[in-house]
Amino acid sequence: MSGSVISGWGSALPEKVVTNAEFEARLDTSDAWIVERTGIRERRFGGTTSSLAIEAGAAAIEKAGLEPGQIDLLVLSTTTPDKTVPATSSTVHAQLGCSGAAFDLNAACAGYVYALVTADAMLSAGPGFRRALVIGSDTLSTITDMEDRSTAVLFADGAGAVVLEHREEAEPLVLASDLGLDGSLLPILYCEHGGYMKMEGREVFRRAVRATVESADKVLRAAGVSPDEIALFVPHQANLRIIDAMVQRLGLAPERSAIVLDTTGNTSSASVPLALTAAADAGRLAPGDLILFSGFGAGMTWASAVVRWGA
Ligand code: UT7
Repeated sequence: MSGSVISGWGSALPEKVVTNAEFEARLDTSDAWIVERTGIRERRFGGTTSSLAIEAGAAAIEKAGLEPGQIDLLVLSTTTPDKTVPATSSTVHAQLGCSGAAFDLNAACAGYVYALVTADAMLSAGPGFRRALVIGSDTLSTITDMEDRSTAVLFADGAGAVVLEHREEAEPLVLASDLGLDGSLLPILYCEHGGYMKMEGREVFRRAVRATVESADKVLRAAGVSPDEIALFVPHQANLRIIDAMVQRLGLAPERSAIVLDTTGNTSSASVPLALTAAADAGRLAPGDLILFSGFGAGMTWASAVVRWGA
C-alpha cells in the first residue's frame, strides 16, 4: 500500500475588497439581486496570477514543514496566465525555488480538481516524483468587462494551494475520480485572446447542475461511499444556488459544504482550494475524513473526486 497525503495548504487573496454596493453605485444592478441570484456579497480584485500563486504556494510549503527545494512537481491550474509563453508555473517555480518539473494546466473552473487528480497520479506512477505543490490561481478581473453587469459582479481574483507528499505507508489519496468535457458547449462560456468573458449564464447554470450531479454520483458509486459518509463537500464556488441544487440532488448534508463565495466571488481555479483551505483552517477536517470535490467550467469541463484527508 502506498499513497499521498495532503500535508500542507495555503491561500492568497488580494487586499482590495469590492462590495456589491460598489457595483450598485455604477451599474444597473443591486446588492439584493446579486445576493439572491448568486450568494456573493463581496470579492477581491488585484495581484497577478503568479504573485497570488507564489503567496499561496509558500504558505502551503511552510504549513507542510518543508523547504521549497523539496518540492519536485509543481502543477498550476489557471485560465489567466501572466504571459502566453512561458507557463506561469515557470515564474512560480523560479521565485519559490522549487526543484523538478512544473507545468500549467487549463481546464477552466474545473481545473483545480483536474490538477489534484493529475498530480496524485504522477506521484503514484513511480519513483519519479515525491512531493507536489498543486496551486489554483486566477485573476479573472483582468478578463472581465466591468461595464457588463451579467459578468462583472461574478468574477474575481485569488489563489489556493496544497502540498501532496507520497508516502509508502499511506492509503490512496484519491478513492475515485471523474474528469470530463463536452466540447459542443464551448460557445456558452469563453474568452478570446485580448477579450472579455462571454457567458450564457442561464444555460451554464442548467448544464453545470446536470453535469456535476451526474459526475459526483459516479465517483461516489465508484468509491463505494454513501453521501452521508462525506465529511466535507468542496464545490466550485460560482453560485450558491448551483451548490444548493447539487447538495439537494446528491443527498448531501447541507452543513457539510465548504462555502467561501460570499466573500470571494467566482475565482475559477482558486475557488476549490480557497474553500478547502478555509475549512481546514477552521478545523473542519480530521484525518481519514472523506472529501467530495466538484468543479465545472468553460469547455464545458467537469471534474469530481472523492479524496481522503490525511493531514
Ligand atoms: O465558473 C464558471 C461558470 N459560471 C457559472 O457558474 C455561472 C452560472 N450562471 C449563473 O450563476 C446565473 O445564471 C447568473 C448569476 C449568471 C444569472 O442568474 P439567473 O438567475 O440565471 O439570471 P438570468 O441570466 O436568467 O437573468 C435574469 C435577469 C435578466 O433580465 P431580464 O431578461 O429578465 O429582464 C438579466 O438581464 O437578470 C438580469 N441580470 C441582472 N440584473 C441585475 C443579469 N445580471 C444582472 C445583475 N443585476 N448583475
